[in-house]
Amino acid sequence: MMAPKGLAGVVVEDTILSRVDGVKGELTYLGYNVDELVSCSFEEIIHLFLYGSLPTRGQLEELNAKLVAARTIPESVQNYVAQAPADHPMATLRSGISMLSGYLTDPEDLSDASLKDDAIALISKTATVAAAIARVRAGKPLVTPREDLSHAANFLYMCNGEVPEDIVTDTMNLALILHADHSFNASTFTARVVASTQSDMVSAICAAVGSLKGPLHGGANTAVMKTLMEIGELDNVESWLDTALTEKRKIMGFGHRVYRVFDPRARHLKAMSEEWGKRVGNVKWFEMSARLEQLMLDKKNINPNVDFYSASTYYAMGIDPDMYTPIFAVSRVLGWSAHVVEQLSDNRIFRPKANYVGGEGKKLVAIEDR
Ligand SMILES: CC(C)(COP(=O)(O)OP(=O)(O)OC[C@H]1O[C@@H](n2cnc3c(N)ncnc32)[C@H](O)[C@@H]1OP(=O)(O)O)[C@@H](O)C(=O)NCCC(=O)NCCS
Repeated sequence: MMAPKGLAGVVVEDTILSRVDGVKGELTYLGYNVDELVSCSFEEIIHLFLYGSLPTRGQLEELNAKLVAARTIPESVQNYVAQAPADHPMATLRSGISMLSGYLTDPEDLSDASLKDDAIALISKTATVAAAIARVRAGKPLVTPREDLSHAANFLYMCNGEVPEDIVTDTMNLALILHADHSFNASTFTARVVASTQSDMVSAICAAVGSLKGPLHGGANTAVMKTLMEIGELDNVESWLDTALTEKRKIMGFGHRVYRVFDPRARHLKAMSEEWGKRVGNVKWFEMSARLEQLMLDKKNINPNVDFYSASTYYAMGIDPDMYTPIFAVSRVLGWSAHVVEQLSDNRIFRPKANYVGGEGKKLVAIEDR
């Protein structure tokens, strides 16, 4: 028996939350093609994932009130973030979220209602912790959240200290929707495995943040921007790519375990990247990205994934590349928490088997004789 490397093709659970159709290039959230949902607010998508339907106005107001009430983070977390500026921002985010545990009503209560309240609190507070990290890294004081702004606008306000223009908020809102869930990706599976032991929501989210941090997963968006900077100029793209492919380097922001065609999220982000490049009068990063996309298709037949065009979009928006992965987490915390709720609604602990290839029958040799 050969173990399926990386669990490729293995179906481990049923889920109603999202489906990735890698052949058609479609992403579905609870029955809706994601293209249908891009005009929603992120708050509506939160309701969809946690309560199974798009909200009525009344339900949206109720949810929003809970999100707004949960926006502040304890002073201990603020102080921790303030003294960790040199740490990897995802490491700071992971530890900061971990500290929130003692401030939730009852993190050990695994009832459906309590888990959903924890999810709302963590979705709200993850944005505040991430914004605090951005402020500290920029050497600026933390910004107190506002109650009158949407989730996306308040997040940007806490990052920059000014109320964003609508176009900026709309772009962040779109990015949050597109990154919210993606079936059994590595971090979501991590969250579900932790939840399956009947541990708590905070533990599952912290583990998921750790999983997202890696460059083969959420860390790719930061790596894409570093790649574009390394390439430097449009004219260098092809020679850079030829060298990188000869050296068998993985090109960040390309490839996907499931998609065999263009990632539908990347389609939206590509349009955003172009729009933002024109808006700020600098299309260089978009043009370099588009050239790299074409060359990767010609030379390797590999398409870009969600991380590829988010990099040049965020860069044009003036966001520090090191914050791209934490922004991913600000969105994906929704998917993770919804998966924890779903896992615990019909739980069986994850306990796969391994194919042991370590030999047998060895005899103990005394330490002095080894
Ligand atoms: C996403 C990813 C981890 C999927 O991994 P996977 O399903 O295990 O696929 P593999 O790494 O086995 O790749 C299959 C083949 O495509 C090639 N390939 C895949 N992604 C590639 C990339 N980004 N650059 C160059 N070659 C790539 C591999 O080298 C491999 O070729 P081979 O069969 O000749 O050895 C992988 O494509 C990758 O590392 N991409 C870059 C990181 C990234 O953007 N991650 C974000 C994902 S949303």
